[in-house]
Amino acid sequence: MSAAPSIDMQIASSRDLSAAQRQEILVLCSAAYEEDFSAYLEMLDPAMHLLVYADGLLVSHGAWVERELRAEAYGRLRCAYVEAIATLPEQQGRGYGSLVLSRMPSLFDDYDIAVLSPSAEAFYQRLGWETWQGALSYRSPEGEEIATPEEQVMIHRLPRTPAWLDTRTALSVDWRPLEVW
Ligand SMILES: CC(C)(COP(=O)(O)OP(=O)(O)OC[C@H]1O[C@@H](n2cnc3c(N)ncnc32)[C@H](O)[C@@H]1OP(=O)(O)O)[C@@H](O)C(=O)NCCC(=O)NCCS
Repeated sequence: MSAAPSIDMQIASSRDLSAAQRQEILVLCSAAYEEDFSAYLEMLDPAMHLLVYADGLLVSHGAWVERELRAEAYGRLRCAYVEAIATLPEQQGRGYGSLVLSRMPSLFDDYDIAVLSPSAEAFYQRLGWETWQGALSYRSPEGEEIATPEEQVMIHRLPRTPAWLDTRTALSVDWRPLEVW
């Protein structure tokens, strides 16, 4: 029987990533999402990255960027917007993705809420993420409110999240290129 791998978790700002780390993240995310992740990775700057290494190999990754949300009847929320949760395909099913995701909320003390756009809702649900039920929209650069009924987001409550924040109300986000949510 082979020994359990030695696990190392690192947190790094996009500004401090070495070229080699950036390349490792690109390879990992491109393999996990089965698409060239270059443009998306460029968008994650500035961002924070959480990196999980097993015996020195980058096996799982997650990132977050700061965004401003507006929740109906509440106002502005400083949001940790979680991105690019991914595990190397050949390393999936070994708990690495859960390790990344369960570590994240404890890193978000400065934020009012954590949000992500899921492609695997059940994976997040089991770790405390809730599906937002209310209407979603974004604020265009011209200041217009544009509905995004085709989108789905999940939230994770943080110590600073207002207890009465109701997921059935409307939620909007600032605009950005590529993927608004
Ligand atoms: C989703 C992903 C990050 C999970 O990583 P992982 O390292 O395999 O996750 P874990 O090993 O911690 O899995 C934990 C559990 O979630 C389940 N799970 C994994 N992927 C899932 C999915 N897509 N949908 C539902 N459940 C999923 C696993 O079956 C496992 O359940 P088990 O403990 O009962 O066996 C990984 O499958 C991946 O990189 N997928 C491609 C990219 C992607 O879709 N990312 C999510 C974007 S929102």
